Amino acid sequence: MNSVVVVGTQWGDEGKGKITDFLAKEADAVVRFQGGNNAGHTIVFDDKKYALHLVPSGIFRKDTVNVLANGMVINPKALIEELEMLKSRGINDFKLAISDRAHIVLPYHVQLDGLFEDLKKDNKKVGTTNKGIGPAYNDKSSRIGIRVCDFIDLDVFKDKLQDNLEYYNKLFKLFGKPLIETADVYNEYKEYSNLIKQYVKDTGLLLNNMLEEGKKVLFEGAQGALLCLDHGTYPFVTSSSPTAASVPLSTGISPKYINEILGVTKAYSTRVGSGYFVTEFEDDVAENIRDVGHEYGTTTGRPRRIGWIDTVVLRHTRRISGITGLSVMLLDVLSGIDTLKICVAYKLEGEIIDYVPASISDFERCEPIYIELEGWNEDITTTTSFSDLPVNAQQYLNKISELSNIDLAMFSVGPDRKQTVVLKNMFK
Ligand code: IMP
Repeated sequence: MNSVVVVGTQWGDEGKGKITDFLAKEADAVVRFQGGNNAGHTIVFDDKKYALHLVPSGIFRKDTVNVLANGMVINPKALIEELEMLKSRGINDFKLAISDRAHIVLPYHVQLDGLFEDLKKDNKKVGTTNKGIGPAYNDKSSRIGIRVCDFIDLDVFKDKLQDNLEYYNKLFKLFGKPLIETADVYNEYKEYSNLIKQYVKDTGLLLNNMLEEGKKVLFEGAQGALLCLDHGTYPFVTSSSPTAASVPLSTGISPKYINEILGVTKAYSTRVGSGYFVTEFEDDVAENIRDVGHEYGTTTGRPRRIGWIDTVVLRHTRRISGITGLSVMLLDVLSGIDTLKICVAYKLEGEIIDYVPASISDFERCEPIYIELEGWNEDITTTTSFSDLPVNAQQYLNKISELSNIDLAMFSVGPDRKQTVVLKNMFK
């Protein structure tokens, strides 16, 4: 198999960055295919920690091609800052390719993101990362977006920028927001345009060629399936589709090249931003999970909301992404908890259901139905095989695999690359 897709099965922050970094050692290319710098992928190795927002997790391996594909919305300033941060930490030798069809995020998108949220009633705010992601995708579907190929042609960039600011400044004026001058944005961003030009390519062509030559390609999803614009808990979702189904469209590769799909889940659940979360709980156990698991957003620093693992969500995600292997992350965080709960179904108005309802008001009325398993007390952070795990931890993993109907491919017992146990090789 020469393509593997890594997708989040929950609401993002499942630890995909670590898994992608781990699989990247076998890959010839690592591809981010949707979202932008709303994502935060934390990678730890050699006692160093890196937070990536735009750059694919293969950037630490000098022979790996790192692709920012057409489905992404890219903030050029944030990209340059991220590359500078990597260079300042000695990561100089890398291969980067940016799709000429990806869209650009500009300062007016960020201001619009804040404005749209401000205009919503409190219970309707999405709680976005305020990085301008939604407004950039709005522009894409309104056909006024600025693509990378436009951005690196400075005349085209200036012309489109001027048109868009004429339009959006009317809105900013109406709502008392600062006006944004074309010249200010142009003068600053033309520098970024010149800096990124060297990396711009038709990445669809590049990736199809690589796959046809038998090279190994890893597709790195950002966010999680429940934040999918189509299949998530709409409207409390992001503006792209972080599913495996999104990969061909968002990269330009033929759908026939998708092979294995690795779903990444935490051993529990978390969510940041608004929106109902069936298995959420708040007590000393949740506080302990938040502390031990460092459950604070990589992008915004917000404390993450904590819940038990939800296998209704996992089955939903398995269906929409065709997941062929499950990676359970942060298992070590659950050590020392007496009783662990697993959500097996929902109760909606007295009826037991086994799906995520489309209607948010139905979803908000769903109550979790749990089974309980006995926890374990042992420190498992040095575990190197499944059979090394305490029996209760083995039973916990087996139960998740059985209920989600996905074979266990990997599990993780700590943040370091070394703390990863592989049961199934995704690249064969
Ligand atoms: P946006 O993507 O900034 O528009 O935010 C929309 C929703 O997706 C909010 O609830 C965010 O908290 C959530 N979100 C976006 N990116 C991530 C991520 O990488 N991890 C977790 N949640 C995210």
